[in-house]
Amino acid sequence: MKVLVTGAAGSIGQVVTLGLMDRGHEVVGLDRTPAPDGFNGVWHTEDCADPDAVSQVFAAQPLEGVVHLASHPDEASLSDTLQSHVITTAALLDAMVEHRINRIVYASSNHAVGRTPRRDLLTTDALPRPDTFYGVGKVATEALLQLYADRHTLNAIACRIGSFLPEPVSRRHLATWLSHDDCVRMVDASLSAPAPGFAVLYGISANTRAWWDLDAGRDLGYHPRDDAEEFADRIPAGPDDEEEAAYVGGPFAMEKFRRPALDRS
Ligand SMILES: NC(=O)c1ccc[n+]([C@@H]2O[C@H](COP(=O)([O-])OP(=O)(O)OC[C@H]3O[C@@H](n4cnc5c(N)ncnc54)[C@H](O)[C@@H]3O)[C@@H](O)[C@H]2O)c1
Repeated sequence: MKVLVTGAAGSIGQVVTLGLMDRGHEVVGLDRTPAPDGFNGVWHTEDCADPDAVSQVFAAQPLEGVVHLASHPDEASLSDTLQSHVITTAALLDAMVEHRINRIVYASSNHAVGRTPRRDLLTTDALPRPDTFYGVGKVATEALLQLYADRHTLNAIACRIGSFLPEPVSRRHLATWLSHDDCVRMVDASLSAPAPGFAVLYGISANTRAWWDLDAGRDLGYHPRDDAEEFADRIPAGPDDEEEAAYVGGPFAMEKFRRPALDRS
């Protein structure tokens, strides 16, 4: 499949770009920053929140799908968050409708449900429960994807990623880790799942101590192979372990993230 990967210069973007190419996809990269060394495909250095720039990217070559990773992957003011997550996605969705592209895979986050107290395995039926403005941005973006899936019969898969890392480094990661290889498997499956409409999956590896249910992902063809448990013996207990395990969003659900929604001069 010929796929536009936004945020292709980022930490997930670089891994996904190479992984999709290895799996036979053709990748067109988009990022605010230039292509990383070694990338030798088509690259667009653009702001994904600019609808004219995005439309021109779609007009520049035929595409069959979009993997949307471009955004600020951390807490910020509410307005910056909405710009970074919702507006970038809106620009892509409008261009997809204009150019009749039917499939988008979105890097959502566990923080869309992060303020959910950690008790039972959380399924994709759980109501949105963001822990931060970042989480609100992901919830709002998922709602936008749902709207476009319904209105325009698009396929839109929101992958609520846990902790994308080479390996887990904290106790929380034993539940939330997403390995590099499983991330590529997740995106590839989300690009290939037959007619899912709007769907949500949890983007974690097959972790023995998982807090999120993988069934929705498996139904879409995502079969993770790695397990953070392999690293458990090497991870010492930390001072924040207990607090980080109270809510599924971990540190983002803590008091230190509380701040006003809008910056005032
Ligand atoms: N890393 C994680 O564990 C994790 C967990 C959950 C969700 N996510 C989501 O995955 C996505 C990618 O995260 P990451 O960790 O690779 O972040 P990153 O910061 O490493 O990469 C993001 C990339 O997007 C680019 N970018 C940002 N805004 C842009 C814009 N408006 N136009 C064009 N390019 C833009 C940046 O230049 C950067 O190269 C984000 O949406 C993030 O919220 C990441």
